[in-house]
Amino acid sequence: MTLFKIAPRRRLLPLALAVALLSGHAAAEQRSLSQGWLFQAGEAKGADKASFDDAGWRKVAVPHDFSVMDKADGTPPFDAKAVGGQDSGYLPGGQGWYRRHLALNAADAAGVLRLNFEAVYMDADIWFNGEHVGRHRYGYTAFTLDLTGKAKTGDNVVTVRVNHVDPSSRWYAGSGLIRPVTLDLLDPVHVAPDSVFVSTRSASAEKGEVDVRASVANRTAAAAKVEVLSQLVGADGGVVARERRQLTIPARGKVDIDHRLAVPNPKLWSPDAPNLYTLVQEVRVGGMLKDTRRTRFGIRTVTVDAENGLRINGRKYVLKGGNIHHDNYMLGAAGSPDADRRKVLLMKDAGYNAIRSAHNPASQATLAAADELGMLVIDEAFDMWRKSKRDADYSRFFEENWRRDIDSLVVSGRNHPSVIFWSVGNEIPEQATPEGAKTARDLAARIRLLDTTRPVTQGVNVDSPANAIQFAELDVAGYNYRAHLFGSDHATHPKRVMYTSESTSKDAFRYWDPVETMPWVIGDFVWTSVDYIGETGIGWMGYSKDWKELGKYPWHLAYCGEIDATGRKRPAAYYRQVIWKSGIDPVAAFVEQPAGTEDLPDRDYFKEHPELDWSLHDLHQSWSWKGQEGKAVKVVVYSEHPEVELFLNGRSLGRKAVNRQTEYRTSYSVKYEPGRLAAVSYRDGKAAGQWELRTAGAPAAVKLATDRRQVRANGDDLVYVSAELVDADGVPVYARDGDRKFRVSVKGAGTLAGAGNGNPMDAASLQSGERTTFHGRLVAVVRAGLEAGPIEVEFAGEGVPVQRVRIDAVNE
Ligand code: GAL
Repeated sequence: MTLFKIAPRRRLLPLALAVALLSGHAAAEQRSLSQGWLFQAGEAKGADKASFDDAGWRKVAVPHDFSVMDKADGTPPFDAKAVGGQDSGYLPGGQGWYRRHLALNAADAAGVLRLNFEAVYMDADIWFNGEHVGRHRYGYTAFTLDLTGKAKTGDNVVTVRVNHVDPSSRWYAGSGLIRPVTLDLLDPVHVAPDSVFVSTRSASAEKGEVDVRASVANRTAAAAKVEVLSQLVGADGGVVARERRQLTIPARGKVDIDHRLAVPNPKLWSPDAPNLYTLVQEVRVGGMLKDTRRTRFGIRTVTVDAENGLRINGRKYVLKGGNIHHDNYMLGAAGSPDADRRKVLLMKDAGYNAIRSAHNPASQATLAAADELGMLVIDEAFDMWRKSKRDADYSRFFEENWRRDIDSLVVSGRNHPSVIFWSVGNEIPEQATPEGAKTARDLAARIRLLDTTRPVTQGVNVDSPANAIQFAELDVAGYNYRAHLFGSDHATHPKRVMYTSESTSKDAFRYWDPVETMPWVIGDFVWTSVDYIGETGIGWMGYSKDWKELGKYPWHLAYCGEIDATGRKRPAAYYRQVIWKSGIDPVAAFVEQPAGTEDLPDRDYFKEHPELDWSLHDLHQSWSWKGQEGKAVKVVVYSEHPEVELFLNGRSLGRKAVNRQTEYRTSYSVKYEPGRLAAVSYRDGKAAGQWELRTAGAPAAVKLATDRRQVRANGDDLVYVSAELVDADGVPVYARDGDRKFRVSVKGAGTLAGAGNGNPMDAASLQSGERTTFHGRLVAVVRAGLEAGPIEVEFAGEGVPVQRVRIDAVNE
């Protein structure tokens, strides 16, 4: 299968290669090319030539985003005049060049070489040793260049030109080699990497039937007698099924293999028990091992219908979903695997079980994390087809490239058990027209050539009955912001399976209730679960105010994420946990911002307003409201349990019922006095949950927390260090007048990769380490270097003692 590979130009094999192909090459290897890249912003005339002098270029690690980098003079990249404006968070696109020297020994140079790019945003041209070897337009799909026969012993050079023309996107896309780059070194006889497809035919507690499809390639000039061993290996390393095949593969040919393997008493994959297996395929010629390919998968079935909803392994699940964009805030759009994984983990920890990858294919790291953590994924192809949303967007390239990009989406995602649906698009301008329906049909048909095991969906924001023509082409109907149609559309289309592909956070109950009451409504995905760069300010004032006022520079975040850009849960995330009855924080209380205490300028002007779409309720996790003494403040309590009681400094303020009728919340008007505000929830008359807010004094210290204390010295691993201001009693300082300026520095075996505070208006540098806390918090990201040793991270803040944390970088 050629799939999304760029076909090499046909030419005769050089002699050295022909010899190597005959004699065989060392066993298969995948080399990470994360390190050693050189970068130059703007035009770089002649850089495509192999002999170009790149000595002055800047050293960078990949994944890399050049849009978010500070300017050469150290000033932040945010620019009020950036063409992308509000869409891009005032960050520019532009041209950028990358070069990577590749030292190869004779055997490697003579073997089969495949260069894999997981995503380059966007419109990339690639040269190898001065020869133009490929072009890839879409910024989110993986592609492979076959370099076999083009390499030489010694120094080789890969050159990439990125041509990100603005405006290309409705959100912040970033620019450059935004996802990993790897090099496959293979024997001429090997499993074709993109050909492997492991799927589950049936799954029960007693037996799993696993279908394995792959093709074995022989790139030598003679037919090869090949033995292929396929083994399914469990998490404990035990082989649970195996099959051996003898094949004769013609010269320069391929042979497909198709196995069905039975696994007795399988450990099935589900969101609750994300059990994984590995398919290990070994290829031998004359008894010699030529290739080993490992593919991780899960044994699980997915079915949908309007009576039973979504079932995984026959058991019903509802999608507790969040939309996410791909950027990683302080790292920009660089999809570092640890950063992508952290985002999935933040969602899992907040009770979500599903992700909609808006509006482009998810990274491999995101999918791998979802596989491991038990998250369900809707993997989406496009935000537009032929009609553009922005002048320089992918619609320019759709006609020529959609097949290749769909193939890439499916081939890169189909072995991940987490992926349950393919989405062909979001709010596509031509949706619900005959043309739009035809395109959906074509896209779905293309998907089904490569995978018939997953339903195809699309996010549609058109009312009924006009949307019917679009939904007729899809297996599952994604409704953007249209919960009011679920009842009436079911009456006219009783077999239609529906879900909310996008909803507003402040209306969480309204969107969730149908999932609980209507079996044909299988879930809800909020816009958004995690905050992102771009679409600035939409969480602040919504679209109903004067457009010109919306999210002006220095705004750069959307600020509609239920989890903020640094990873902190906002009150909306706690409400969601409660309506999902996830048991994480069964009761939680928050305070409505009293007038005159705005946490951002203009808060009063943009005060929450019922018709504002993406704004969150104006609530805060704080009982520090200096100046409000004696005045009434509104306290909102969320609870999974049927009764709550609020206490102020030990005095009961009364019990209240909380249930579906009250939308699992209640509120109190409380005369503010400093101290302790506690909420207790009751189940069967007994206290079952509790929550406390305490008034904080002046900041006295900074508390550091890390998500790990040890990293591999591989240049890739990241550590997130969060810093929280606390008073002398350890109470978190939330009030804005307590915020302090910090200098974060990293010494030893690591470097500072970025730092952010989640303040949507603080457009300071993300790399310098100079940052002010926002509501008492700041998060720094530290990257491992290539040498083992201690890494010391220091937070030096105004008026608080310096704090340090040590992390160890160890050899793998
Ligand atoms: C939706 C769109 C999303 C995002 C959201 C908030 O209509 O599909 O991509 O733009 O609005 O603005």
